[in-house]
Amino acid sequence: MNSYKILALIGDGIAYEIVPEAVKVLTAVEKKHGLDLELVGPYEFGAKYYADHDMKQGWSPEITRELLYEVDCWFKGPVGLPEYLGKLPGPYLPINQRLDQDLYANIRPCRLREGVDGVLKGRTAGDIDFIVLRENTEHMYVRVGGLFSRAGTTELAVDNYIQTRKGCERIIRRGYELALSGAYKGKRGSPRDGKPRLTVAAKWGIYKGDALFKAIAEELEPSYPEVETEYSWIDAWSYWAIMRPDHYDVVVMPNQYGDIMSDMSGALQGSMGLAGSINAGDDYCYAEPTHGSAPDIAGRGVSNPTSMILSVGMMLNWLGDKNGDKRLKDAWMSIDAAVNTVLREQKVRTPDLGGSNNTVEFGDAVVAALLSE
Ligand code: IPM
Ligand code: MG
Repeated sequence: MNSYKILALIGDGIAYEIVPEAVKVLTAVEKKHGLDLELVGPYEFGAKYYADHDMKQGWSPEITRELLYEVDCWFKGPVGLPEYLGKLPGPYLPINQRLDQDLYANIRPCRLREGVDGVLKGRTAGDIDFIVLRENTEHMYVRVGGLFSRAGTTELAVDNYIQTRKGCERIIRRGYELALSGAYKGKRGSPRDGKPRLTVAAKWGIYKGDALFKAIAEELEPSYPEVETEYSWIDAWSYWAIMRPDHYDVVVMPNQYGDIMSDMSGALQGSMGLAGSINAGDDYCYAEPTHGSAPDIAGRGVSNPTSMILSVGMMLNWLGDKNGDKRLKDAWMSIDAAVNTVLREQKVRTPDLGGSNNTVEFGDAVVAALLSE
């Protein structure tokens, strides 16, 4: 039987509350599906941890760069706090690892689940079920640029936006594969008409890189006749996603747009606390919630751990695909179903969902649902 080594990293703010809940669910799913998981950590690595330990650079002793490659998968809570912005290496871990481990597909599902009040009047569970597929290694995130200073004053800042053929091609292919498989969704296809659909969203009339993105999608389109392809300006898409969310299935977009639109999709799901995600390459993957460390509510134990729990579940699915291990794919399905049960029953709800339960009670409810299925 295959065994898997999984590394857990904490982060900042509510990461201290939601990561332990994901660990709890992982342990429960291991038991339920007879998996052999070796958990490494959870280790601290957030901005605050670096500041408290006066670490100017590098890693805490337990976390080596090699470890991130040795494990089968890893997951992290949100990282970064406003008071440490731009100062410490810890918070750059996600951006660096997306590049270093070539995690080019950032898969961020947006699903309105039963028991959750949608923010759009009349829209109910089943109407909203699409994936924001964010290219994760290029565009405004290449970190090629710099500051120009004269006589000690910073006068100019330059960021570069880069898009390559390889980068566009592989993420668009991933989009078609997701549309064909229906993975990470409640149901395959668009909720409105059931058709597998790939929406390519960018700003090709203005940015050359986005024009390349679209041109490559047009080249690939004939190879996927079962999927309906459509093209949307990204600004227009932000409008249409709210006006007719049920039309969308998989929406692929360059990196920076994916960052912004996946937060907007958090609102469409009813709470950012429900927005899971994985950063998936061909060889490596790590999971993290779409949201940040939420310093405004951190420390009160009221954060919703669903985003972290779903992220870890998606990570197991990725690992199952990579290793041809169906047990891991089943483990994801059970986690997804257990979350649905807890949300649908509405007995245990964190404040973001209108309830008064705490993070631990919500995590316990997911574990109980998981084990009783
Ligand atoms: C995200 C976050 C990150 C990003 C930050 C924390 C670097 O906003 O994963 O969406 O900008 O990609
Ligand atoms: Mg973001």
